Amino acid sequence: MYAEYRGKYYRVLHPRFTIVLGTLCTNNRVNFMPASWNTPISEEPPTVGVVVDKETFTNECLESLGEATINVPSDAQLQLVYNMGSVSGRDVDKVSKFSLELVPSTLVKPPGLKGSIAILESKVYEKIPVGEVNFYVFEVLLVKVLEGFVDEWSIDFSKTNVLLHGAGRVFHKVTPTKIFAKKP
Ligand SMILES: Cc1cc2nc3c(=O)[nH]c(=O)nc-3n(C[C@H](O)[C@H](O)[C@H](O)COP(=O)(O)O)c2cc1C
Repeated sequence: MYAEYRGKYYRVLHPRFTIVLGTLCTNNRVNFMPASWNTPISEEPPTVGVVVDKETFTNECLESLGEATINVPSDAQLQLVYNMGSVSGRDVDKVSKFSLELVPSTLVKPPGLKGSIAILESKVYEKIPVGEVNFYVFEVLLVKVLEGFVDEWSIDFSKTNVLLHGAGRVFHKVTPTKIFAKKP
């Protein structure tokens, strides 16, 4: 038996892997915004899609400079990530408010966020407006990972963890145990 409901359809598609978009804005302000609606898209070219509400400062920044860093925060950054998603860079300088440390980028202008497990330097490949959001397709130009924190499959969950966003203030972690499917 299935119970039917209307409304928040996405509840059953959560938790979702949280990333933090780093941008640089016209006033030279570096800004960071968490986004859990994101996905890898293609390998060639290497692309990642991120949903960005049209009213965010990040959207404005991406429209002026089509570059970003896609930062993979660790669970140690839980409170920081939540705080960064609770205020707008239009109203506050998040770098000074949250004493953020930056990682200079190699190929793009926006810096990465120190403490991230990985930083993907990216440029906007395409912007697709859908309702109240833009779906940004980013081309990944360069990937940086914290040394020793990624194994042959993925992030090494025996060493760190990620933030899977449930809803609101709720996040989940990945169980470090690997389970293997049998070869068919
Ligand atoms: C865990 C988390 C995930 C979020 N995911 C998204 C998202 O995928 N897309 C989005 O537009 N906003 C998302 N938000 C909300 C933005 O981060 C929030 O509106 C932020 O204040 C925008 O900052 P800005 O105005 O400085 O760009 C999320 C917030 C949190 C805390």
